[in-house]
Amino acid sequence: MDTGVPGSRGGHGSAREVSRRTAAKLMIAGVLASAIGIAIGLAIDWFPTSASMQARRIDTLFDVLIVVSVPIFTLVAAVVLFSAVRFRMRAGEEQADGPPIRGDMRLEVLWTAIPAVLILSLITYAYIVLTDIERAPAGRERVVRVTGQQFAWTFRFEEGRAQASTTQLHLPVNAPVKFLVRSIDVVHSFWVPAFRMKIDAVPGITTSYRVTPTRTGTFPAVCAELCGLGHAFMRSGVRIVSQREFDAWLARLTRRRPITDGAKTKPDARALLVSGNPNTGATACGACHTLADSGSTGRTGPNLDESLAGKDAAYIRRAILDPNVDVARGFGRGIMPRDYGEKLSAEEIDALVEYIDAVRRRR
Ligand code: CUA
Repeated sequence: MDTGVPGSRGGHGSAREVSRRTAAKLMIAGVLASAIGIAIGLAIDWFPTSASMQARRIDTLFDVLIVVSVPIFTLVAAVVLFSAVRFRMRAGEEQADGPPIRGDMRLEVLWTAIPAVLILSLITYAYIVLTDIERAPAGRERVVRVTGQQFAWTFRFEEGRAQASTTQLHLPVNAPVKFLVRSIDVVHSFWVPAFRMKIDAVPGITTSYRVTPTRTGTFPAVCAELCGLGHAFMRSGVRIVSQREFDAWLARLTRRRPITDGAKTKPDARALLVSGNPNTGATACGACHTLADSGSTGRTGPNLDESLAGKDAAYIRRAILDPNVDVARGFGRGIMPRDYGEKLSAEEIDALVEYIDAVRRRR
């Protein structure tokens, strides 16, 4: 066909047609590339250690997605590359039109039907996995209330009459748990990568997810929603232990003297440091600070075992009540809450200062 355009050599003749042999070679190359791609995709360790029943299902889903999507990617990339090389414009063809293309019913049905079937199958499979990981367990399930607050997580256990808050989450292995997640200030997101589960903590509503831990060890629990200056430091850990260790831990936690506003008894400073005061919303110091004596391991703020060397009780008091005046090197201003003076009673602050100063002296 002659287009009549000057310089045109007329139509893309048989020289540019793809022979059956070339198509077969392309097909073999595609299959090989897909096989290599799938092998690499499955061999790469994409995720951190998996530590829950839910993680296993989600990792399998991910592997299935790799197996299905690598050949499609390879097919598309191969056809694009081949076409760019084979059908590229040569010198003298600048003004030429391409050959006219008419529809091909078979081809169109095929390339609509195959993706439709693929996508429907994947949706069905993903839906089955989703309902599976969200299903309530047959037996008893422990409820842990998770509260996000700039910039720490607090965990509350309510087991019968025993109640306890802590910033260090322990869970027994192989026992189902449901997290009820809320926030008391801005939107946070409670994420334990080893569980592969994450949900937003939204002020005003309670969200939830379930996990059944399957491996003992300590795994990071982080905030996955930009929530302010201290977002990057809003990290703590989940410690998965045996049922017996967990029972002992919980018993120790609930045995602590309750912290009540204006109580006549002297507040238990160590408990206050680890659990905060849930009645007034005062976050536990230990959520952000490490202090070996109390067992707290927070890393949002300075490590109190190190940063208080050479200081005194007056400094500690000021650091609690007016944290922006003298910020430890390497830490930002405006991250520590400034409302401890309102959320802690005078007795509680006295007890904290006395306790932390006593620990500092002993070092
Ligand atoms: Cu809380 Cu980011």
